[in-house]
Amino acid sequence: MGSSRNKFTSLLLMFCLVVLVRAEYAKYKDPKQPLAVRINDLLGRMTLAEKIGQMTQIERVNATAEAMSKYFIGSVLSGGGSVPAPQASAEAWASMVNEIQKGSLSTRLGIPMIYGIDAVHGNNNAYRATIFPHNIGLGATRDPMLVKRIGEATALEVRATGISYAFAPCIAVCRDPRWGRCYESYSEDPKVVQSMTTLISGLQGDAPSDYTGRPYVGGSKKVAACAKHYVGDGGTYMGINANNTIIDTHGLMSIHMPAYYNSIIRGVSTVMVSYSSWNGEKMHANHFLITDFLKNKLKFRFCDYRL
Ligand SMILES: *[C@@H]1O[C@H](CO)[C@@H](O)[C@H](O)[C@H]1NC(C)=O
Ligand SMILES: *[C@@H]1O[C@H](CO)[C@@H](O)[C@H](O)[C@H]1NC(C)=O
Repeated sequence: MGSSRNKFTSLLLMFCLVVLVRAEYAKYKDPKQPLAVRINDLLGRMTLAEKIGQMTQIERVNATAEAMSKYFIGSVLSGGGSVPAPQASAEAWASMVNEIQKGSLSTRLGIPMIYGIDAVHGNNNAYRATIFPHNIGLGATRDPMLVKRIGEATALEVRATGISYAFAPCIAVCRDPRWGRCYESYSEDPKVVQSMTTLISGLQGDAPSDYTGRPYVGGSKKVAACAKHYVGDGGTYMGINANNTIIDTHGLMSIHMPAYYNSIIRGVSTVMVSYSSWNGEKMHANHFLITDFLKNKLKFRFCDYRL
């Protein structure tokens, strides 16, 4: 009698566990599911507020665990010089990132946030990080393999601070040395800039051949990269920062666009839209260049989730 009651109890327990597991099973959390299935499942669960939050990137000074969970914030950045403390150690960086991440993971859907930093010549915001030359100096080396190794070293030093996303490389083609950010450009020659997109493969790792053209980050020693600023940032009128790039479509496509092809082929994870204008239209408002060209023609997208 005792033993059959025990059996009954354990069966009941198992039943409850199965029900619990089934209730908690979410396709989007299952790495065995195809990516498109996971994305569709997750999008189907998200409220409008969650979608808005996920589209938002806030500065670290505002990124408390509470703000992350309250507004479902998708990502956080360190602006230039924005550090957890003066001369913060790598450990201090990592615990700050972990603290913010706790807020994100505590939300209903538990979507982790991604933290990005302007690691543009080494992890240059972090105290005692290795500082490499700015892009103008790297372009002068004409040595894409050296630049790739700099990307590898930078990825390691970014990951050492708990961060997995670098806002690099800047693939601006500086056409007017009066531009105050000319040093962020590898060259005035689009071919040299194209050749230096090896930095992306250094930061992210080499995408396997079946990944070519699809965003790729190769494991825990690599970071997501960012080709910026799309497009024409180095061609503004009289070199005025964030101003108007006055050039016909052929000029834009043959001078400022080519390095984006190389970046996408290398599997760059993100592209940052420029703060500048093209022929008087703000780049963020340019449907043709962002949607028709970058997304639909160059096929810059994580995957085709519209099954
Ligand atoms: C973000 O932090 C800055 C600096 O402390 C502060 O001035 C600003 O009000 C904060 N913004 C929000 C929305 O909390
Ligand atoms: C370009 O700079 C000029 C001079 O500062 C300014 O008047 C103009 O609005 C700027 N144009 C754009 C598109 O930013």
